[in-house]
Amino acid sequence: MEVIGIVAISLDGFITQGNKPGSAFTSAADKVWFSQTLETFSAHLMGSVTFAAERETITRAAHNTSSKIRLVFTRSPGKYRSLARPGRLEFTDAPPADALRYIRALGHERVAVLGGGQIYGLFLKENLLDELWVTLEAKVFGSGTPVFAGEHRKNLKLIEVANLDPNTLLIKYKPE
Ligand SMILES: NC(=O)c1ccc[n+]([C@@H]2O[C@H](COP(=O)([O-])OP(=O)(O)OC[C@H]3O[C@@H](n4cnc5c(N)ncnc54)[C@H](OP(=O)(O)O)[C@@H]3O)[C@@H](O)[C@H]2O)c1
Repeated sequence: MEVIGIVAISLDGFITQGNKPGSAFTSAADKVWFSQTLETFSAHLMGSVTFAAERETITRAAHNTSSKIRLVFTRSPGKYRSLARPGRLEFTDAPPADALRYIRALGHERVAVLGGGQIYGLFLKENLLDELWVTLEAKVFGSGTPVFAGEHRKNLKLIEVANLDPNTLLIKYKPE
């Protein structure tokens, strides 16, 4: 099973522009790349705040697609009982490694970790990411949600760089 973190950041390492939720700041090129890329992953993992920012879209897609699972991390899974659909949209307070074992047992081989900062931080800290794919937008925000919540001392190996458009880089890393 492959576990890939996918994130779009500003030059100063934020995943939101100030306190505006969501990632509307990304370039048109990233939006196209991201939606095509996401199709290649059958499991989409995220935190409850990221889920809340795209709740309608994710819920609709999850209720209509049987081949993918969206798994949302929350310390209060019971709050979401009416939205949950087994195997399609689930809410969990399981530790991330246990959640991955569960996803694998369901037969999913490609897992996208979609943030936000708390969830990227958790997966990085626990060494659960096989790769991290970063879209670097040529923008400076000054404030926002940092890409990795928490204290980290990690080295990553650069494995690939590509231009999505003249201003936007896609950078792939492997944690060491
Ligand atoms: N630019 C990008 O690529 C990108 C990507 C993703 C998200 N975003 C944006 O980033 C923002 C969200 O980031 P965020 O860091 O604030 O939140 P987040 O990581 O999306 O979600 C945080 C929530 O996850 C749950 N959680 C955290 N640790 C947990 C654990 N150990 N076990 C179970 N649940 C746990 C908690 O939910 P409960 O409070 O429910 O317990 C916590 O409030 C949003 O605005 C989103 O749109 C941007």
